Amino acid sequence: MPEDVLESQKAVETPAGGTAAPTIQVVNLHKTYDLGEVQVHALRGVSLSVYPAEFIAIMGASGSGKSTFMNLIGCLDRPSKGQYLLEGQDVSQLSKNELARIRNLKIGFVFQGFNLLARTSAVENVELPLIYSGISHQERLERARESLRMVGLSGREEHHPAQLSGGQQQRVAIARALVNRPSIILADEPTGNLDSRTSVEIMEIFQRLNEERNITIMLVTHEQDIARFAKRVVLFRDGKVRRDTPVEERVVASQVLLTMPTVDEDDEEERG
Ligand SMILES: Nc1ncnc2c1ncn2[C@@H]1O[C@H](COP(=O)(O)OP(=O)(O)O)[C@@H](O)[C@H]1O
Ligand SMILES: [Mg+2]
Repeated sequence: MPEDVLESQKAVETPAGGTAAPTIQVVNLHKTYDLGEVQVHALRGVSLSVYPAEFIAIMGASGSGKSTFMNLIGCLDRPSKGQYLLEGQDVSQLSKNELARIRNLKIGFVFQGFNLLARTSAVENVELPLIYSGISHQERLERARESLRMVGLSGREEHHPAQLSGGQQQRVAIARALVNRPSIILADEPTGNLDSRTSVEIMEIFQRLNEERNITIMLVTHEQDIARFAKRVVLFRDGKVRRDTPVEERVVASQVLLTMPTVDEDDEEERG
């Protein structure tokens, strides 16, 4: 058996979720991008099991396949080979429409660049994923407000992205990811554009969602300091899992924040 399969099975023996069935289970996942003349073998046999309420940091050099992996896990794309069970359901062969439906039900996304609509208020950005859900306008608004409350942005509902700091924009993006009440949040370098205190504030939100709402979190980062907020670190290299280890001395973001100098929010907005 390939080394990476053995590695991931070792990690499975002591999952955070005890004996629960995996939330995410991938076996020998491959992804090849066909560019006509060349083929890019972005994933070369990834096997990994993720249990409910795990918090995983995905690390690895640029080009090692992290984003490709997140896109597959997030049902944004399909593997070239291998199996993917999402909450027990085999989703590796589903059509694009079926993938979209499952994605909307189960998964929230957060990206490095926030990806908010510029001319749209915070609350409208957050309710966007619900627009085609058949939920009434009134309930959409309520759920969007509730999501903004969960990320500490009550009172900023009508602000447009340009009127918010980077950290606040990322919190709007997290609220948008939460509005469908997903069981999984996938975040690809969510703190990549943020200063260190703001990054820890974002990690505090992820830790809280993970602890209080049992949301499974998978987060790509290239910063060791950020990975220490997770419970488990999976290292990619050349499209494979090279290391899969629990975080020994996990850092609690709310405690770290107590030791960091605060930025005056109003100053920050004027600058941003
Ligand atoms: N849409 C795509 N088309 C072709 N090649 C891609 C595409 N996305 C990623 N790749 C290639 O796949 C490899 C892995 O990329 P990626 O998953 O983005 O890595 P990472 O997120 O770790 O930087 C790289 O060689 C990259 O150039
Ligand atoms: Mg990437």
